[in-house]
Amino acid sequence: MAELNLILLGPPGAGKGTQATNLTADFGLPHIATGDILRAAVAGETDLGKEAKRFMDAGDLVPDSVITGVILERVAEDDARDGFVLDGFPRTVDQADSLGKELEARERRLTGVLLIDTPDDVVIKRISGRRVSRKTGRIYHVDFDPPTHEGRCDVDGSELIQRDDDREETVRKRLVVYHEQTEPLIAYYEDLGLLRRIDGTRSPSEVHAHIRATIATLRLEDEL
Ligand code: AP5
Repeated sequence: MAELNLILLGPPGAGKGTQATNLTADFGLPHIATGDILRAAVAGETDLGKEAKRFMDAGDLVPDSVITGVILERVAEDDARDGFVLDGFPRTVDQADSLGKELEARERRLTGVLLIDTPDDVVIKRISGRRVSRKTGRIYHVDFDPPTHEGRCDVDGSELIQRDDDREETVRKRLVVYHEQTEPLIAYYEDLGLLRRIDGTRSPSEVHAHIRATIATLRLEDEL
């Protein structure tokens, strides 16, 4: 079967991480989440983490020169041979150009770009209630997807935390940055015929079902 190379696009809090986890379970593809890679680097105090931290804390994008090489190398790893789910990359037109060139050089191409379309007021509500386990990466919401035991991860009982950049003023800054720097990618991928829109305001399971149906169509189109 052909490779399944997917990008999840959408504002902060749209549900990219939530749906990427579902897709990993559905298709066994690696979930390549730029934010998770950067947060692990910050926690591990690596050179990448030290460089990225101040940008992340301010709600700004980490410079392309810092992040692009890391993600392109990750996409070229063995476990991504049959496909990948990119979550949080690309986020600028330059990053999209770099990814396109890298895939072309390896005679690969994107299957589709799934835009999880979600308005600002909805994402602000979602992010303010988000809790995550640093250990397992499982994402919860205090109202929409609460853990069985408050403050504890269902997977292993580890502590649930609020992300440093989930404070309301930082979230508002991240949204401004999204509209200015990432939203142009909608037209970019529309022009390439790759963009598919998903209504992100529906429940997580409805969004998941819509994504699965969209992937089935993309695969059929790919075979034609
Ligand atoms: P990153 O970690 O990628 O953050 P983001 O894109 O802002 O996305 P989020 O993780 O906030 O949201 P999400 O869409 O994954 O939503 P989730 O599924 O958690 O990036 C963080 C920072 O790293 C950036 O600000 C930047 O500094 C840096 N960075 C990352 N990539 C970069 C790049 N390429 N270039 C430069 N810098 C980069 O869901 C949110 C909440 O809603 C959860 O609580 C969830 O339970 C709930 N939820 C999900 N879906 C639904 C639903 N359908 N209904 C109700 N609730 C839902």
